Amino acid sequence: MSIISSKKYSQADSGGLIDYLWYSRYGHHSAKRDGIVNVEHADLAQHWPLFGLQIKTPRLEIRSPTDDDLPGLIAAIDTGVHDPTEVPSSTPWDSTPLLQQRFDSLREWWSHRATWDVDDWLFDGAVFVDGKPIGVQNIRAKQFAKLRIVSTGSWLGRRWQGQGLGKEMRAAVLHLAFEGLGALEARTEAYSDNERSLRVARAFGYVPDGQEYHIRQGQRARLLRFRLDRDTWLQHRRSDIAITGLDDCRDMFVR
Ligand SMILES: CC(C)(COP(=O)(O)OP(=O)(O)OC[C@H]1O[C@@H](n2cnc3c(N)ncnc32)[C@H](O)[C@@H]1OP(=O)(O)O)[C@@H](O)C(=O)NCCC(=O)NCCS
Repeated sequence: MSIISSKKYSQADSGGLIDYLWYSRYGHHSAKRDGIVNVEHADLAQHWPLFGLQIKTPRLEIRSPTDDDLPGLIAAIDTGVHDPTEVPSSTPWDSTPLLQQRFDSLREWWSHRATWDVDDWLFDGAVFVDGKPIGVQNIRAKQFAKLRIVSTGSWLGRRWQGQGLGKEMRAAVLHLAFEGLGALEARTEAYSDNERSLRVARAFGYVPDGQEYHIRQGQRARLLRFRLDRDTWLQHRRSDIAITGLDDCRDMFVR
């Protein structure tokens, strides 16, 4: 397993680690091994505690996608993410050939895991409804321990849009930020013609925080920035959102 061959563990250390993995899983008496430990996927949360983090609302659940969840997320992208007349990001999702888009998405999700650092992290929260992945609500921060500022981004497969789920998943991830991690401010941005995204921000009381101009499909486009402070969030705080597994991975977010 990669965790055992990881450079983080020296060869001298690896025997101890194998013993630890084996005994923690099977106990001393059943220990019978040939030096290779088969760590099942569910066990990875012991070593990558982010896999144990869950945010649940009455309508959906957000958690870090395991590799087994990724084909479902790809399928959600395949259903389309926006109308061809809308361009929510600088590059339209459907401007990339399907196979390339799938490849790029996987590479991006894996890169966020692989480059995770307590001072520069991006949590890709897969959004599940009835156990099915339907989109991603991400949250990211740099130097969170000192700045206490997060930024968010999101998408949903088209067939799940316009049913209030965009607001529900933002509520969930803001709960993680403010309630769970003690954030002082959340930021977001959207192009001036992305009405649904702008409305999500307004619904939570974000206030304008400036604007930028970007080239989008060869044209000048205005990107609006917004910020939400802790006191305003507290006025919208919900009591029906539950976070589990955060204590085990808190020091991945803030130390
Ligand atoms: C942005 C996005 C995540 C919002 O999720 P959603 O589930 O569609 O949004 P909701 O149903 O929660 O609705 C949010 C607001 O938009 C409004 N809305 C919904 N559909 C709309 C539409 N077709 N046109 C205009 N407003 C719409 C809702 O009424 C609500 O506003 P309100 O609170 O004032 O009533 C989703 O639409 C999406 O993935 N879009 C494509 C990708 C994208 O734009 N990502 C954000 C990049 S910044």
